[in-house]
Amino acid sequence: MVTFTQEQPHDSDAIEHLLDRVFGTARSQKTSYRFRDRVAPVGPLCYVAKEGDTVIGTLRYWPVEIGPNATPALLLGPLAVDDTYRGLGVGADLMDVTLAACAAHGHQIIVLVSDLAEFYGKFNFTAAAPTGITMPGEKTERLYVRGILPQALAGVEGPVRPFGARALKARSVKNRSAKRKAA
Ligand SMILES: CC(C)(COP(=O)(O)OP(=O)(O)OC[C@H]1O[C@@H](n2cnc3c(N)ncnc32)[C@H](O)[C@@H]1OP(=O)(O)O)[C@@H](O)C(=O)NCCC(=O)NCCS
Repeated sequence: MVTFTQEQPHDSDAIEHLLDRVFGTARSQKTSYRFRDRVAPVGPLCYVAKEGDTVIGTLRYWPVEIGPNATPALLLGPLAVDDTYRGLGVGADLMDVTLAACAAHGHQIIVLVSDLAEFYGKFNFTAAAPTGITMPGEKTERLYVRGILPQALAGVEGPVRPFGARALKARSVKNRSAKRKAA
Protein backbone atom coordinates (compact mmCIF):
# COMPACT_ATOMS: atom_id res chain seq x y z
CA MET A 1 0.00 0.00 0.00
CA VAL A 2 1.30 3.45 -0.85
CA THR A 3 1.24 5.98 2.00
CA PHE A 4 1.70 9.76 1.92
CA THR A 5 3.44 11.36 4.88
CA GLN A 6 5.26 14.54 5.73
CA GLU A 7 8.94 14.26 4.86
CA GLN A 8 11.16 13.53 7.87
CA PRO A 9 14.92 14.18 8.24
CA HIS A 10 15.64 10.43 7.92
CA ASP A 11 13.96 10.42 4.45
CA SER A 12 16.45 12.83 2.94
CA ASP A 13 19.03 10.31 1.63
CA ALA A 14 16.32 8.24 -0.07
CA ILE A 15 14.84 11.40 -1.57
CA GLU A 16 18.23 12.47 -2.96
CA HIS A 17 18.72 9.02 -4.52
CA LEU A 18 15.26 9.11 -6.07
CA LEU A 19 15.89 12.61 -7.48
CA ASP A 20 19.28 11.50 -8.86
CA ARG A 21 17.62 8.54 -10.59
CA VAL A 22 14.79 10.63 -12.03
CA PHE A 23 16.54 13.91 -12.92
CA GLY A 24 20.22 12.91 -13.01
CA THR A 25 23.05 13.96 -10.74
CA ALA A 26 23.57 17.24 -12.63
CA ARG A 27 20.09 18.41 -11.62
CA SER A 28 21.45 20.96 -9.16
CA GLN A 29 22.81 22.96 -12.10
CA LYS A 30 19.27 23.89 -13.15
CA THR A 31 18.26 27.50 -12.69
CA SER A 32 15.41 26.56 -10.38
CA TYR A 33 17.94 25.20 -7.87
CA ARG A 34 19.37 28.71 -7.46
CA PHE A 35 16.06 29.57 -5.79
CA ARG A 36 16.64 26.81 -3.24
CA ASP A 37 20.31 27.40 -2.45
CA ARG A 38 20.18 29.27 0.82
CA VAL A 39 16.80 28.33 2.19
CA ALA A 40 15.25 25.24 3.65
CA PRO A 41 12.15 23.70 2.11
CA VAL A 42 8.86 24.46 3.88
CA GLY A 43 8.75 21.37 6.10
CA PRO A 44 5.01 20.95 6.71
CA LEU A 45 4.34 21.05 2.94
CA CYS A 46 6.94 18.49 1.83
CA TYR A 47 5.64 14.96 1.46
CA VAL A 48 6.95 11.57 0.52
CA ALA A 49 5.06 8.65 -0.96
CA LYS A 50 6.23 5.31 0.44
CA GLU A 51 5.62 1.68 -0.35
CA GLY A 52 6.36 0.14 3.01
CA ASP A 53 9.52 1.97 4.13
CA THR A 54 10.72 2.73 0.60
CA VAL A 55 10.45 6.27 -0.71
CA ILE A 56 8.82 6.09 -4.15
CA GLY A 57 7.74 9.70 -4.56
CA THR A 58 8.69 13.15 -3.33
CA LEU A 59 7.36 16.66 -3.57
CA ARG A 60 8.87 19.71 -1.90
CA TYR A 61 8.00 23.41 -1.65
CA TRP A 62 10.34 26.36 -1.14
CA PRO A 63 9.70 29.92 -0.04
CA VAL A 64 10.15 32.60 -2.71
CA GLU A 65 8.91 36.14 -3.20
CA ILE A 66 7.48 37.93 -6.20
CA GLY A 67 7.84 41.43 -7.56
CA PRO A 68 8.58 44.80 -6.00
CA ASN A 69 6.46 44.11 -2.93
CA ALA A 70 8.20 40.80 -2.23
CA THR A 71 4.83 39.04 -2.20
CA PRO A 72 5.33 35.69 -0.46
CA ALA A 73 4.89 32.62 -2.63
CA LEU A 74 5.99 29.00 -2.86
CA LEU A 75 8.13 27.32 -5.49
CA LEU A 76 6.80 23.79 -6.11
CA GLY A 77 9.26 21.04 -6.87
CA PRO A 78 10.95 18.85 -7.50
CA LEU A 79 8.12 16.37 -7.99
CA ALA A 80 9.28 12.86 -8.79
CA VAL A 81 7.79 9.38 -8.77
CA ASP A 82 9.95 6.27 -9.14
CA ASP A 83 9.41 5.00 -12.67
CA THR A 84 8.14 1.61 -11.47
CA TYR A 85 5.21 3.36 -9.81
CA ARG A 86 4.25 5.86 -12.50
CA GLY A 87 0.77 6.02 -13.95
CA LEU A 88 -0.82 4.77 -10.72
CA GLY A 89 -1.97 8.10 -9.35
CA VAL A 90 0.98 8.63 -6.97
CA GLY A 91 2.00 11.96 -8.54
CA ALA A 92 -1.59 13.21 -8.49
CA ASP A 93 -2.00 12.16 -4.85
CA LEU A 94 1.23 13.96 -3.89
CA MET A 95 -0.13 17.07 -5.60
CA ASP A 96 -3.52 16.82 -3.90
CA VAL A 97 -2.14 16.14 -0.42
CA THR A 98 0.42 18.94 -0.55
CA LEU A 99 -1.87 21.50 -2.18
CA ALA A 100 -4.33 20.87 0.64
CA ALA A 101 -1.46 21.41 3.12
CA CYS A 102 -0.52 24.68 1.36
CA ALA A 103 -4.12 25.91 1.72
CA ALA A 104 -4.35 24.73 5.34
CA HIS A 105 -1.16 26.67 6.19
CA GLY A 106 -2.50 29.84 4.58
CA HIS A 107 -0.21 29.99 1.56
CA GLN A 108 -1.66 31.92 -1.34
CA ILE A 109 0.53 31.64 -4.43
CA ILE A 110 2.49 28.75 -5.92
CA VAL A 111 4.82 28.89 -8.92
CA LEU A 112 6.60 26.06 -10.71
CA VAL A 113 8.90 25.51 -13.67
CA SER A 114 7.99 22.66 -16.00
CA ASP A 115 7.30 21.44 -19.51
CA LEU A 116 4.34 19.38 -18.25
CA ALA A 117 1.54 21.91 -18.84
CA GLU A 118 -1.06 19.18 -19.19
CA PHE A 119 -0.15 17.46 -15.91
CA TYR A 120 -0.06 20.66 -13.86
CA GLY A 121 -3.18 21.98 -15.62
CA LYS A 122 -5.07 19.19 -13.84
CA PHE A 123 -4.23 20.99 -10.59
CA ASN A 124 -5.31 24.45 -11.78
CA PHE A 125 -1.87 25.75 -12.64
CA THR A 126 -1.88 28.12 -15.61
CA ALA A 127 0.80 29.84 -17.66
CA ALA A 128 2.41 32.68 -15.75
CA ALA A 129 3.02 34.81 -18.87
CA PRO A 130 -0.35 36.65 -18.87
CA THR A 131 0.09 37.60 -15.20
CA GLY A 132 3.41 39.39 -15.74
CA ILE A 133 5.13 37.06 -13.28
CA THR A 134 8.57 36.03 -14.55
CA MET A 135 11.53 34.04 -13.28
CA PRO A 136 15.01 35.35 -14.04
CA GLY A 137 17.00 32.75 -15.95
CA GLU A 138 13.93 30.71 -16.94
CA LYS A 139 11.85 30.87 -20.10
CA THR A 140 8.54 32.43 -19.13
CA GLU A 141 6.66 29.77 -21.11
CA ARG A 142 7.95 27.15 -18.65
CA LEU A 143 6.62 29.07 -15.66
CA TYR A 144 3.22 28.18 -14.23
CA VAL A 145 1.31 29.73 -11.37
CA ARG A 146 -1.66 29.07 -9.19
CA GLY A 147 -3.44 31.22 -6.65
CA ILE A 148 -4.85 29.01 -3.91
CA LEU A 149 -7.83 31.33 -4.19
CA PRO A 150 -7.99 32.81 -7.71
CA GLN A 151 -8.00 36.40 -6.39
CA ALA A 152 -4.63 35.77 -4.69
CA LEU A 153 -2.91 36.65 -7.96
CA ALA A 154 -4.59 40.04 -8.39
CA GLY A 155 -1.98 42.77 -8.75
CA VAL A 156 0.94 40.37 -8.31
CA GLU A 157 3.57 40.69 -11.04
CA GLY A 158 7.30 40.92 -11.54
CA PRO A 159 10.21 38.57 -11.06
CA VAL A 160 10.22 35.59 -8.72
CA ARG A 161 13.17 35.96 -6.37
CA PRO A 162 14.76 33.67 -3.83
CA PHE A 163 13.30 34.16 -0.37
CA GLY A 164 14.87 37.12 1.43
CA ALA A 165 16.54 38.44 -1.75
CA ARG A 166 15.19 41.96 -1.28
CA ALA A 167 16.29 42.12 2.37
CA LEU A 168 19.74 40.75 1.44
CA LYS A 169 20.11 43.35 -1.33
CA ALA A 170 19.07 46.18 0.99
CA ARG A 171 21.59 44.98 3.60
CA SER A 172 24.45 44.78 1.11
CA VAL A 173 23.70 48.28 -0.27
CA LYS A 174 23.68 49.60 3.32
CA ASN A 175 26.98 47.82 4.09
CA ARG A 176 28.59 49.21 0.94
CA SER A 177 27.55 52.76 1.71
CA ALA A 178 28.70 52.40 5.35
CA LYS A 179 32.10 51.18 4.08
CA ARG A 180 32.30 54.14 1.65
CA LYS A 181 31.56 56.58 4.50
CA ALA A 182 34.16 54.92 6.72
CA ALA A 183 36.84 55.03 3.97
C1 LIG B 1 5.25 13.63 -13.74
C2 LIG B 1 5.12 12.55 -12.69
C3 LIG B 1 5.43 13.11 -11.32
C4 LIG B 1 3.68 12.04 -12.72
O1 LIG B 1 3.52 11.09 -11.69
P1 LIG B 1 2.57 9.80 -11.90
O2 LIG B 1 2.41 9.17 -10.58
O3 LIG B 1 3.11 8.97 -12.99
O4 LIG B 1 1.23 10.51 -12.38
P2 LIG B 1 -0.26 10.02 -12.06
O5 LIG B 1 -0.35 8.56 -12.29
O6 LIG B 1 -0.66 10.52 -10.74
O7 LIG B 1 -1.05 10.78 -13.21
C5 LIG B 1 -2.04 11.75 -12.91
C6 LIG B 1 -2.57 12.26 -14.22
O8 LIG B 1 -1.54 12.98 -14.90
C7 LIG B 1 -1.30 12.40 -16.19
N1 LIG B 1 0.14 12.42 -16.42
C8 LIG B 1 1.07 11.69 -15.77
N2 LIG B 1 2.30 12.01 -16.23
C9 LIG B 1 2.11 12.92 -17.21
C10 LIG B 1 2.98 13.61 -18.08
N3 LIG B 1 4.32 13.40 -18.06
N4 LIG B 1 2.46 14.50 -18.95
C11 LIG B 1 1.11 14.72 -18.98
N5 LIG B 1 0.22 14.08 -18.17
C12 LIG B 1 0.72 13.19 -17.30
C13 LIG B 1 -1.82 10.98 -16.09
O9 LIG B 1 -2.19 10.50 -17.36
C14 LIG B 1 -3.02 11.15 -15.19
O10 LIG B 1 -4.10 11.67 -15.93
P3 LIG B 1 -5.64 11.31 -15.55
O11 LIG B 1 -5.87 11.91 -14.19
O12 LIG B 1 -6.42 11.98 -16.62
O13 LIG B 1 -5.69 9.82 -15.55
C15 LIG B 1 6.06 11.35 -12.98
O14 LIG B 1 5.79 10.87 -14.28
C16 LIG B 1 7.53 11.65 -12.89
O15 LIG B 1 8.15 11.55 -11.82
N6 LIG B 1 8.13 12.06 -14.03
C17 LIG B 1 9.56 12.36 -14.09
C18 LIG B 1 9.89 13.60 -13.32
C19 LIG B 1 9.10 14.79 -13.79
O16 LIG B 1 8.93 15.03 -14.99
N7 LIG B 1 8.63 15.57 -12.78
C20 LIG B 1 7.93 16.79 -13.02
C21 LIG B 1 8.96 17.78 -13.39
S1 LIG B 1 8.40 19.39 -13.31
